[in-house]
Amino acid sequence: LRIAALASGRGSNLAALIAAREDGRLPVEFTLVGSDKAQAGALGIAAAAGIPTIALNPKDYPTRADFDAALFGHVARSGADLLVLAGYMRIVDASIVAAWEGRAINVHPSLLPKYRGLHTHRRCLEAGDVEHGASVHFVTAELDGGPVVAQARIPVHPGDTEADLAERLLVEEHLLLPAVVGAIASGRLRWDRGPVFDGMPLT
Ligand code: GRF
Repeated sequence: LRIAALASGRGSNLAALIAAREDGRLPVEFTLVGSDKAQAGALGIAAAAGIPTIALNPKDYPTRADFDAALFGHVARSGADLLVLAGYMRIVDASIVAAWEGRAINVHPSLLPKYRGLHTHRRCLEAGDVEHGASVHFVTAELDGGPVVAQARIPVHPGDTEADLAERLLVEEHLLLPAVVGAIASGRLRWDRGPVFDGMPLT
């Protein structure tokens, strides 16, 4: 399976995927890592692993749709079968999302459908939840709203801060995301979007 990833930040989830591939646990090739932030740690992690990278600045484009067309054009031309959003923090234009439906996944730090969007750890604490978690879902036009395919759970301990939850949850994300990519790579998991994707299995 050829995969491209988009990331806006540190890139620890990307690093977990790369490590899984290097250990022989994940039968994938990385075609491209793209970002909307030239300073994203993910770009350095990708470059160190010999993966092509691209960073585009949204401010250089007149509209969101223009930016997305440019960035996702690079992703498409890289030949990726699957797109992994690994901490990509921008909303993607609906027409672009539609073109990738069934072939793009996102990792989100909450037990979806709880806490779509930002500040998930804070919202979990404010709600007094006794557990927290992370979800991997197929990407649809609805922000963090596509079909959930796997989740990891952690307990919330008394006195936990946002940083505590983020740190403990990240450990789980780093297992969860490679597991889902592995399931897609081996053909155990696919989302059939009907006629558009007939004859285009993810494997
Ligand atoms: C992760 O918690 C991910 O779930 C969220 O943003 C964070 C990205 O971390 N969407 P990293 O860049 O992979 O280290």
